[in-house]
Order: sequence, then structure tokens, then C-alpha cells
Amino acid sequence: YQGSITIPVIVNILEDANHPVTQAHINSQIAILNEDYNDMNPATGGVPSEFNNAVANVDITFVLAGVNRKTSTRTSWGTNDEMKHSNLGGMDAVDPAHNLNFWVCEIGGGILGYAQFPGGELDTDGVVIGSDFFGENAAGGQYGHGRTATHEVGHWLNLRHIWGDGGCRQDDFVADTPSSDRANYGCPSYPTVHCRTNDMTMNYMDYVDDNCMYMFTNGQNDRMRAIFGTGGTRESFVQ
Ligand code: ARG
Ligand code: ZN
Ligand code: CA
Repeated sequence: YQGSITIPVIVNILEDANHPVTQAHINSQIAILNEDYNDMNPATGGVPSEFNNAVANVDITFVLAGVNRKTSTRTSWGTNDEMKHSNLGGMDAVDPAHNLNFWVCEIGGGILGYAQFPGGELDTDGVVIGSDFFGENAAGGQYGHGRTATHEVGHWLNLRHIWGDGGCRQDDFVADTPSSDRANYGCPSYPTVHCRTNDMTMNYMDYVDDNCMYMFTNGQNDRMRAIFGTGGTRESFVQ
């Protein structure tokens, strides 16, 4: 799909007084998504020259379409999607065929966020982010700069982890991301080698610190855009 893509975003917040999510967090999160998906992250200047030609402008615009808040004292929602159902104490998705729904809540278990891949049930479609990891200047330390959402939206747009979640031969189904056999953490020095070639540790689909991830590749861009084409799993967003 070659046309312009605009994604309306609904932010559903299960408000916990000890982990406030402010309008500034929300606005900065939308701004960060727009930077990262439009090749405007200032850190991208640090991409090593061997990867320069692979850097993609995905050209997707995210627009805040609504914020819903519900008071909650629950401190660990886990990952079984209960936050997505009002009858289970959560909040129902808003028109998920036409909006990217975020749920911001206390997930617990050290989990930063999780996403549903395209093609799943509509009522659970979207992205869950821990309250301390949503937006800029969030409480989450090295994960407090909004890149968990960039990473999870990558999954929501069909991207796998850059190392393919397996050994050197396990693919992420993207040709221009080098193979690796593990996630990288922290802020790795360049070069980092695990499968004979240099890892692209600065890719949004690795596990490094927020400030150390700053590129998608053209191959990842193709994989994301494919789902918006005719018969694609997110075609409803461009009709
Ligand atoms: N561990 C999470 C996942 O696999 C997100 C990792 C995000 N990394 C970050 N630096 N914010 O979906
Ligand atoms: Zn992930
Ligand atoms: Ca690859």
C-alpha cells in the first residue's frame, strides 16, 4: 500500500493514583510515535553508516482521537486482556476497526507493554502499555521515553522482534535486518556481533533502552505497509 496512512488513536487509561498518566504524557507519546514513524527521531543521526541506506520513513501519521479514563486500584493487570473488557473491570475498545486503541494500566511482572498482531479478534485489538512507560518523562527510567509504544505498535503492524525470537537462522521475515540470536539490552556499543554480522541494535524492534533505539528499515516498512493493501488485515484503516 503506497498511499498516506493516518491512524486515529484512542487512549484508554485505567487510572491508578500512584502512577499518574498526564495529558503531557499522552501528547508527548503521540509526538514520539509521529517522530519515529516519519524518520524524525533526532537520534537517527547515530545510525552506523553500514545501515544508513536501510533507514525507513514509514510515513504513518498518528492522531489523538480520544482519551478515556476510569479509576482503578488494580496494581497488576497481567497480560490476559482483562483491561480490554468493561465487564472485567477494564475498558472496551472504541471502534477497533478504525482506531488504534491503547490501554495504559499497571501490567505488573516487569512487563513494559504488549500488543496484538494484526488478524486477531477485534475486541482485543490494540496495544497495552504500563503506566510508567507511556510518553516522555515517564517514571520508567531508561524505559521512560516513549519507545515501548513505538515497539508495540511495530508488533501491531505485523513486525517481529529483529532477532526473530530464535537462533541465527530464525528469521524476522525482513531481508534487510541482520540476523541475530538474541535480544540486546541497555545501550550496546557498536559493533555488537552475534551471528557473524553486526547486530542492528538501534532498531525499534530490539530490546535496548528507549534512547538507544532509533530506526526501522525499508524491509520493515514494506512489511507494515503490506497489511493496509487490498485484503490486508488492516485495510479497514485506509478505506
Ligand atoms: N518487552 C516488550 C516487548 O517485547 C517491549 C520492549 C520495549 N523496549 C523498550 N526499550 N521500550 O514487547
Ligand atoms: Zn516486542
Ligand atoms: Ca532479517
